[in-house]
Amino acid sequence: MGKLTGKTAVVTGGNSGIGLATAKLFAQEGAQVFITGRRQEALNAAVKEIGHAATGIQGDVSNLGDLARLAEGLTAKGVVLDIIFANAGSGTFAPIADVSEEHYHKIFDTNVKGVVFTVQKLLPLMKDGGSIILNSSITESKGMDSFSMYSGAKAAVRNFARGWAADLKPRRIRVNAVSPGVVITPGYSAIGMNDDQIKEYAAASAAKTPSGRTGEPEEIAKAVLFLASDESSFVNAENLVVDGGFSLV
Ligand SMILES: NC(=O)c1ccc[n+]([C@@H]2O[C@H](COP(=O)([O-])OP(=O)(O)OC[C@H]3O[C@@H](n4cnc5c(N)ncnc54)[C@H](OP(=O)(O)O)[C@@H]3O)[C@@H](O)[C@H]2O)c1
Repeated sequence: MGKLTGKTAVVTGGNSGIGLATAKLFAQEGAQVFITGRRQEALNAAVKEIGHAATGIQGDVSNLGDLARLAEGLTAKGVVLDIIFANAGSGTFAPIADVSEEHYHKIFDTNVKGVVFTVQKLLPLMKDGGSIILNSSITESKGMDSFSMYSGAKAAVRNFARGWAADLKPRRIRVNAVSPGVVITPGYSAIGMNDDQIKEYAAASAAKTPSGRTGEPEEIAKAVLFLASDESSFVNAENLVVDGGFSLV
């Protein structure tokens, strides 16, 4: 028996990085997994990698039409959800003096609006007693230069876990956040960092981390599995920091 045998999960942004590692682990633990992302080719590759327990549904989490289509598609298949991992997100850099309206919308539409309406549109499909996990970041509590819009967005995400845990009390749905530290994923090149910059950033982060290294997507996936499974049955409205101690020391 896997930890998620008989359960059904949606993982947004499941075609890459932390989302893909989590979708794989969920499937290994016996769950049926629906993954989303904007890039159809990457979705197809991820579904192949995860195996027969996975289905890809293309969509942009900042687009309410796409989220409605996701909910309708799942409803048409008769899907009842046990787990939602609202993971899709990304950040780009700009110091406050250079934050444009476009930058603001890009960050908040994906990381905040996307999380709000992913959860809202999927809630009717969710079983009472289910588990929602929101992907925040250590930036929710730690200032970093040129990253304030992303930090603000992730602070909102962390706090949604508090408010929604209260809202969903009548349905016994637990809502928790996970806050990864530095985990090198394709997301870093997607925001325009080259290989040398990524290496330099990873080395500098590792040097400041008690564990002496950056994290792996699979290590975040294990924390998400804990929050998704019954092993965390009395953990609610919490934020699980998984950063090797980077933000805490
Ligand atoms: N890696 C880290 O160091 C780190 C640290 C803290 C928090 N996080 C958070 O972890 C989450 C996953 O990031 P990652 O590092 O795994 O990056 P990644 O490898 O780039 O994965 C991001 C995923 O989100 C999807 N996505 C992005 N924007 C989307 C949108 N508007 N609609 C639908 N899907 C979208 C991407 O797919 P498409 O491009 O196909 O849409 C991709 O599957 C993000 O929320 C990120 O903020 C990461």
